[in-house]
Amino acid sequence: MRKPKTSSKDRKILCIGAGYVGGPTMAVIAAKCPEYTVRVVDIDKGRIDAWNSKNLPIYEPGLDGLVEKARGRNLFFSTDVKKAIDESGIIFVSVNTPTKTFGEGAGMAADLQYWEKTARAIVECSHDDKIVIEKSTLPVRTAEAMHRILQSNNKGLNFDIISNPEFLAEGTAVRDLENPDRVLVGSMASRSGKAAAAKIADIYAHWVPREKILLTNVWSSELSKLVSNAMLAQRISSINSVSALCEKTDADIDEVAKAVGMDSRIGPKFLKAGVGFGGSCFKKDILNLVYLCRFYGLEEVAQYWSKVVEINEYQERRFVLNMIRSMFNTVAGKKIALLGFAFKADTGDTREAPAIYIARKLVEEHAEVSIYDPKAMENAKSDLKDIAGRINFARNHIECVKNTHAVAILTEWREFTTYDYRRIFDSMEKPAFIFDGRNILDRNALFKIGFNVHSIGKSPMRNI
Ligand code: NAD
Ligand code: UGA
Repeated sequence: MRKPKTSSKDRKILCIGAGYVGGPTMAVIAAKCPEYTVRVVDIDKGRIDAWNSKNLPIYEPGLDGLVEKARGRNLFFSTDVKKAIDESGIIFVSVNTPTKTFGEGAGMAADLQYWEKTARAIVECSHDDKIVIEKSTLPVRTAEAMHRILQSNNKGLNFDIISNPEFLAEGTAVRDLENPDRVLVGSMASRSGKAAAAKIADIYAHWVPREKILLTNVWSSELSKLVSNAMLAQRISSINSVSALCEKTDADIDEVAKAVGMDSRIGPKFLKAGVGFGGSCFKKDILNLVYLCRFYGLEEVAQYWSKVVEINEYQERRFVLNMIRSMFNTVAGKKIALLGFAFKADTGDTREAPAIYIARKLVEEHAEVSIYDPKAMENAKSDLKDIAGRINFARNHIECVKNTHAVAILTEWREFTTYDYRRIFDSMEKPAFIFDGRNILDRNALFKIGFNVHSIGKSPMRNI
């Protein structure tokens, strides 16, 4: 067995992939570990330029300050991937792992081409042993394939592969990174694998209590990430499925969620009914889990997890159908304001946002759609660029709601709860409808103003 070596590059960290995960994670590591040099590289020059500017490429509360403090001190952003690989001993790989859109496994399996290209670049540019860390979310047993690619080098180099999945949520990335529920460090059973895991655990131990750093085998770590996302999404689909039943039975979904969540075995989190979950990961990670189950011949297990995604799509469809039915079975020629486009509050990210489906469906029904989101307007324009001519991208909520027949709340932005709804009502066509897809507004107050109020999982309140 090879002896683990201590390298002068052990304090030189590289992250390949300067996205939602790579950027914030490395900013926190740089802030907490001043004796380490942290480099973040990406092939996307525009993204790197943005990381080096005042306008960071992603919006996350608390991130600007962190980056500003560490950048140029021990945090560097560049496009020179090759040089950075050669100079670093610890390499996090945080490239995207989207759902495959072609060939075998299309629409289900993870597309690992970016990961594999990165592994090959590491082999090509390395001149000494390195620790390579899977930060991206990957199918269980990817480390095996990666290890084979890395070890195929003919330079006699050793690469230890570690699985260290990320659990941050967008909008709370900095808080989650600074105070994680747990950090997973999965390694191979070899002596050098264990030594590599210890080095990675030492980095996190700068700010995370040791008892929260779990050392596991590499496969458990890979699978735990997929299962965590699947179980979080499952809770949302569970409560959303019950919201449909509430609408039929006059039960109130918020009351049901509260009562159920007060059972300490169930807990209150992730039981907020809404228009459906979005975000870049839940759907892709569940589909990936489903694909893996099928690959291993576990059809019943695959079908079980598949339903979580099906219910999510049902919830989005149900929301639009309810709008159409409530508005006298047609929205053709009617103006409809969508407040919120991001997949959740406090982020400008719109990947897999329910708003994309809802906007498209309404346009298909010949509605005149107007959109306002405090942070996601650029992404909204890009997501809908093929139908942009049929949509009004409003500069503020007042412009967005003016002369509309209905307002739909699609993101739980706090500012939506502070608007003057009397003024909004006065500026709208009558009867004025409000569809609260996030159950954040005071429905009794809206009803008193004169709105017809439709919430998720609650009986409608109709004035007319
Ligand atoms: P992202 O798309 O925001 O960023 C990925 C970056 O990798 C892009 O900027 C891309 O240009 C870069 N890249 C791709 N190939 C490259 C290469 N060969 N060399 C250099 N750079 C390359 O993705 P993300 O949201 O940061 O997600 C990254 C991974 O982390 C995914 O596997 C995702 O599932 C996982 N994850 C994401 C989140 C989240 O909240 N977004 C949370 C936990 C885990
Ligand atoms: C999620 C997980 O929470 C993170 O732990 C994980 O690291 C990440 O995915 C990932 O792997 O990418 P994120 O997608 O950023 O994080 O955001 P969440 O807060 O989980 O929300 C996801 C979606 O579920 C949003 O559309 C949100 O509005 C919706 N949601 C959430 C509900 O509809 N109800 C809830 O009770 C909670």
